Amino acid sequence: MDVKDAVLARKSIRAFDATPVSRKVLEEILETALRAPSWGNTQPWKFTIVGGDPLTRIQEEYVRLFGEDVPPNSDFEMPTEFSDAQKVRYQGLGKGLFQALGIEREDTEKRNTFYENMMRALGAPHVIYLQLDKGFNPYALMDGGTILQTIALLAVEKGLGTCFLAQAVRYPDVVRKHAGIPPDQMLVMGMAIGTPIQDHPVNLFHSERGKPEEFFRFLEIP
Ligand SMILES: Cc1cc2nc3c(=O)[nH]c(=O)nc-3n(C[C@H](O)[C@H](O)[C@H](O)COP(=O)(O)O)c2cc1C
Repeated sequence: MDVKDAVLARKSIRAFDATPVSRKVLEEILETALRAPSWGNTQPWKFTIVGGDPLTRIQEEYVRLFGEDVPPNSDFEMPTEFSDAQKVRYQGLGKGLFQALGIEREDTEKRNTFYENMMRALGAPHVIYLQLDKGFNPYALMDGGTILQTIALLAVEKGLGTCFLAQAVRYPDVVRKHAGIPPDQMLVMGMAIGTPIQDHPVNLFHSERGKPEEFFRFLEIP
């Protein structure tokens, strides 16, 4: 598969087949992804790849806390403020996803089921948790992004789907407890990984992108 095809084929998968991915395939993806660049080659990342009973325990507690309206307690705050352009895109995503799923604006029950499903990592058999040492430098977040996207692209080549999931680290103490992650490890991001349910309406949804001129300025480039 060429790189451009992988980039264009990658998208957030939000409905997974529960069948586990083999350890061998996960190792191949993750070990290859270690070639991702990092600040000064510091490779600040650590990962815990969770499936089976520990993942079920994490998710049961997530669903319970979410059901009790316990607010997120992420190791670093999720974005709440956006520029106008970003707000439009953010709202467009929500609208597009609910439309794909046939969920009406006022249907709180179905919306809650959608979010509850996110607490269950969208049915994925595994979640890859990205950890950084407590007190990490913000550059390490860049490094985390480079390797997670590399993982996502390598997964495409294997016929697998992924979804970056900030929601998977909304209750980090729960993950630390059930996945045996020490308290000096910050949980930065979760990534659901597994086989996509190809024809699920949520997976047929395609997110939009702005026009190139919204993002790029070329100076003195012939
Ligand atoms: C840092 C980060 C966190 C994300 N967290 C979530 C999440 O919690 N739930 C979710 O459904 N999607 C999440 N996403 C996926 C984005 O919504 C998605 O990448 C974006 O809408 C573009 O769509 P695409 O990935 O299909 O191209 C996250 C993406 C990133 C990069």
